[in-house]
Amino acid sequence: MATKKNKSSIRPLRLGSEWPYAPAPESAAIARINEQYELFIDGKWQKPAEGTYFDSINPATEKKLYRASLATEKDVDKAVAAARKASDKYWKKMSPAERGKYIFRIARLMQEQARELSVMETLDGGKPIRESRDFDIPMACNHFFYYAGWADKLEYAFTNRTPKPIGVAAQITPWNFPLLMAAWKIAPALATGNTVVLKPAETTSLTTLKLASIIQEADLPPGVVNIITGAGITGAALVRHPGINKIAFTGSTAVGKLIQQETAASNKKLTLELGGKAANIIFSDAPIDQAVEGVVNGIFFNQGHVCCAGSRLYVQESIAPLFIQKLKDRMATLLVGDPMDKNTDIGAINSAEQLEKINYYIRLGKKEGSLHYESAASLPKKGYFCQPTLFTKVAQSSRLAQEEIFGPVLAILTFRTEDEVIEKANNTPYGLSAGVWTDKGSRIFNMSKRLKAGVIWANSYNLFDPTSPFGGYKESGYGREGGLHGLLPYVSF
Ligand code: NAI
Ligand code: MG
Repeated sequence: MATKKNKSSIRPLRLGSEWPYAPAPESAAIARINEQYELFIDGKWQKPAEGTYFDSINPATEKKLYRASLATEKDVDKAVAAARKASDKYWKKMSPAERGKYIFRIARLMQEQARELSVMETLDGGKPIRESRDFDIPMACNHFFYYAGWADKLEYAFTNRTPKPIGVAAQITPWNFPLLMAAWKIAPALATGNTVVLKPAETTSLTTLKLASIIQEADLPPGVVNIITGAGITGAALVRHPGINKIAFTGSTAVGKLIQQETAASNKKLTLELGGKAANIIFSDAPIDQAVEGVVNGIFFNQGHVCCAGSRLYVQESIAPLFIQKLKDRMATLLVGDPMDKNTDIGAINSAEQLEKINYYIRLGKKEGSLHYESAASLPKKGYFCQPTLFTKVAQSSRLAQEEIFGPVLAILTFRTEDEVIEKANNTPYGLSAGVWTDKGSRIFNMSKRLKAGVIWANSYNLFDPTSPFGGYKESGYGREGGLHGLLPYVSF
């Protein structure tokens, strides 16, 4: 129950450095943000049928950034019709090599405008500029490059079979990696000859709208990609629409279940990438300092707004006190604050609702009897921010150890044997990812066979590559995105 604050530093210092970092803000001037955005349907910007708009704010300042269109049933109808027409008239008929050229062109244009995209991503979503600039945007470009390469080689991806496009793909993305999730979905769909209607999350539409203008600039035939903005009602209308052939959804398990129910009696193909409660497992023979970095990266990266976040730490009992102390020391050096500052490690929580959800779990953890600890970082007065937080003495059955928090909150548990930790790690409704830290290669193989998780990192965490598939077990969803496997949900034979 006790709450302990780290009193060792007032202004965070970098390990090994004697002085605090001076602010190094990125300029927002490069981002040309419109006051209002329309819907991108049939290659044109079109007003929403009901004339309704909603605001998107910058979660670090709580100030309005732009207005986006709220697409309703009529707009969804129009977008699906445009995608169908584009499929029949242009995209399906085009030679695969030509399709590949268009995708390469999108990738190159994204790369040319990477700096602007990074700034937009940070302003709209709250993630540190360092992450948008060094991870989200380059990785999004790489997905387009990677799938562009597959476009004219599909017969090698599916040997002795003839892959055909499915038709119109409906794609719904979340707010934690807006442009990257759009890339994960659009690039393989186009490479396999499908057309797309995509809806980004309502708090982070900006980079997806910018992608729409890049697609326009790339001169993609009208209707091949349609971007409609809106909230849950827009997503629900898209899922219900009889004109779509495939749905790709990334978001909460609750909405994933609704979509599965909705499509149960239909012919729509479905892939779901949902929540997670990943175990990061540290054995006593692990390289301790690297493992501490891996744990920090696993849970505090992107404010913990990561479905594969290493939100449960299992540390072997013999090294637990040392490991937890090192982790606390490292937490004291994390810089929380202005996402536009290049030094910032932990930016803004995406929305007031999400911050409230995280705080709810912090209160719950204390009530459940776990030991609470947070870094001493001073938080900005305005905006949605959260201290990096950990809990020790967490019970396996507690909600803190079972439920997805989606914030910078780590639950620490201990174990003695390999069998014990496998049983504990597998004991949640989720199965998206896990991490194993040990010096012993055979143990890594054994663990990765027995852990029920789609992705398992060994002596590393949160590493991604367009060539590598990603997806879950159990309530983390099904289907794979990325790599060769990511083509499969978009073809029929
Ligand atoms: P959400 O699942 O409501 O939102 C994800 C996307 O689905 C958004 O584009 C949203 O507009 C859309 N959507 C909402 N209701 C829909 C419906 N009935 N039919 C079709 N589309 C719909 O997630 P939310 O509420 O933003 O976050 C709640 C929790 O979900 C988070 O705290 C986190 O635990 C989890 N989450 C997991 C993500 C992941 O990457 N797996 C991403 C975002 C959230
Ligand atoms: Mg926003």
